[in-house]
Amino acid sequence: MIKMTLSETIKSNYQKNLGFSPDQLRELLSSPDLPVLEVLQNMANQVRQIQMGKAVHLRGIIEFSNYCSRNCAYCGLNRYNTALHRYRMSPENIIIAAHHAASLGLRTVVLQSGEDAFYTGEILAMIIKEIKKTGVALTLSVGERPFQDLQLWREAGADRYLLKFETSDPDLYARLHPGHQLADRLTCLQHLKELGYQVGSGNIVGLPGQTVDILVNDLLLMQSLPLAMAGVGPFIPHSDTALGPFPPGNVPLTLKLLALTRLLLPRVHLPATTALSSLQAEGKILGLNGGANVLMLNLTPVAYRSLYEIYPQKSEVSEAPEQLVLDTHRLIKEIGREVATDPGHGRLS
Ligand code: 5AD
Repeated sequence: MIKMTLSETIKSNYQKNLGFSPDQLRELLSSPDLPVLEVLQNMANQVRQIQMGKAVHLRGIIEFSNYCSRNCAYCGLNRYNTALHRYRMSPENIIIAAHHAASLGLRTVVLQSGEDAFYTGEILAMIIKEIKKTGVALTLSVGERPFQDLQLWREAGADRYLLKFETSDPDLYARLHPGHQLADRLTCLQHLKELGYQVGSGNIVGLPGQTVDILVNDLLLMQSLPLAMAGVGPFIPHSDTALGPFPPGNVPLTLKLLALTRLLLPRVHLPATTALSSLQAEGKILGLNGGANVLMLNLTPVAYRSLYEIYPQKSEVSEAPEQLVLDTHRLIKEIGREVATDPGHGRLS
């Protein structure tokens, strides 16, 4: 009885444009009831349909270097993981991979790497200029970099930037990122906004030490930034990191966060994350039916793909780009959606 009352209150409040109070968010996230998840997913699906339509945007991601100068406790690329074989793609090969993505019909290319100073501002700017000649939208996901680099890349034609805050809790952030502070990350997000990037950020669900209150604040932070793109994915333990022994993030809880993100940021571009489909075979469908409107396709050359091991058992480590694109088109059609034909730009924050 109480369960349905919670769901019904939530629904009618949202419909009356009352949104959610932090208390309600806390209650929703702590409720173990499946009906609550179902109600939220249905609402998120409706809002996605009204605000963003049927289209699913495909982003081709090229993971061009797994060198990283940071020591994030959850991440397999962290600098102290000596078990990992490191690689760097040459600028030429990055450009070739991006051209390949464009030739497969992808309208957005995401360049992602660890924080790797080998790629100076100038080198990456040159790569960006070359890739932009194909007409694709270009997203960077290369970590915290100085304002000058971000500016150079924006001038070179980069459109978007992904930089997750990972957790909105300053203490948890400091514990997970030794020597680093949440405030610096937020400053970097502010710089991106000032430079006119479409900004993406988000969190990891199920991090050791994370509480429901922290998750509520994660949602409120995403809403306040506000974002063009949001990334919400489950924590997946990596045995070669300090957090190896901890359990993975909970899939229903992640789906709840995803649905709430759609409800709080109705026009955000929201992927069904790779981490979600790595934990759960049906992850893409569950995400797309619960508020998401974006899929990331891994177009890193197959030779490097398994080495970009942020977390283990990452999905799609071996499919050829052509196959991946075909399979994705089929999946989108099967669930009654369509592949977007436009580049899928988002709001400026
Ligand atoms: N589990 C889930 N997500 C992770 N990331 C890094 N390591 C993990 C992990 N073990 C995510 C971070 C980062 C993105 C590129 O990958 O959120 O921003």
